[in-house]
Amino acid sequence: MPRSEPGSRDGPVGIKQVAQLAGVSPGTVSNVLNKPERVAAKTRARVEQVIKELGFVRNGSAASLRAGHGRTIGLMMLDLGNPFFTEMARGVEDLMSEREYGVILCGSASQVGREQRNVRMLAEQQVRGVLVTPVSDSGESLARLRERNIPSVMLDHAATRSDQCSVTVDDVAGGRLAVAHLLERGARDIVFVGGPLTTRQNADRRAGARKALREAGCGTLREVIVDEMTPRAGHEAAEHLLAELPDAVFCANDLLAMGVLRVLLQQGVRVPGRVMLIGYDDIEYALASAIPLTSIRQPPYKLGRIAAELLLDECEHPGSHAHQQIMFQPELVVRESTS
Ligand code: RIB
Repeated sequence: MPRSEPGSRDGPVGIKQVAQLAGVSPGTVSNVLNKPERVAAKTRARVEQVIKELGFVRNGSAASLRAGHGRTIGLMMLDLGNPFFTEMARGVEDLMSEREYGVILCGSASQVGREQRNVRMLAEQQVRGVLVTPVSDSGESLARLRERNIPSVMLDHAATRSDQCSVTVDDVAGGRLAVAHLLERGARDIVFVGGPLTTRQNADRRAGARKALREAGCGTLREVIVDEMTPRAGHEAAEHLLAELPDAVFCANDLLAMGVLRVLLQQGVRVPGRVMLIGYDDIEYALASAIPLTSIRQPPYKLGRIAAELLLDECEHPGSHAHQQIMFQPELVVRESTS
């Protein structure tokens, strides 16, 4: 029987080439790969030797298609440029790597159309499950995943259905913590700078801010709503403040706060002496900011890791899986920008 040299044919080596060289059926090679206990040790050793010689690499996608499920999950987040989400992705990927799953990472850029395209792409890739920070409250993308029997866990967004897992932080409590702190520091005229209010995180943080004012029975809350939660958008928001400087600014995330801070300092406005400033997330740069930023801390790595564990439990143990809606409490971290 002619021995084909490893790599002597174009394209990847297939199961048939391995079977031919090992002198067994393709089914025996498939058993060596998937159910080795069914193959006699001597035959298994011969097939494994041929696999090594030919440099055969199994097609994971084909295997997962045949088996009806893959070892790849989808992770869809709002903004891949935000350190909050990259830290959350690190928590997901660490867990998935330990459990030998791959991760397909995609961003929605807070756009519904892009989120829908991502859902279709992930379904076509036969992912085992999806972790998603939804763009809106519509539940549309999650419904599409359910229709395709693809398990999902909401990340950084509370589920409203008992048959949907979610892992998030109480953003109403976070907004309340931020503004209660500013009021305690003597601020009365406060501005909320937030992203689109169709994004649950912004709406909840503003609701918490308003709750703090009601509970204190004092203070006023103006607002500047921008189209994205980035330092550039923070710059834009700050331009609106210069004509009538407030006592304090509460930004819905640290990236906005860093943009606001830069404009205030450029304009010679003392922070915190003239205007106090508080952000949200407590990303690494908050500490390293020109004026260390007071912020509302969230645990993105833990959020990602726990959501990943919930998803794999639902994928691997659908019969015994118990859905959970986990909500962590935020933490106030006081630094120079309000002290
Ligand atoms: O994506 C906007 C914000 O929501 C992030 O900065 C983080 O706070 C998330 O919860």
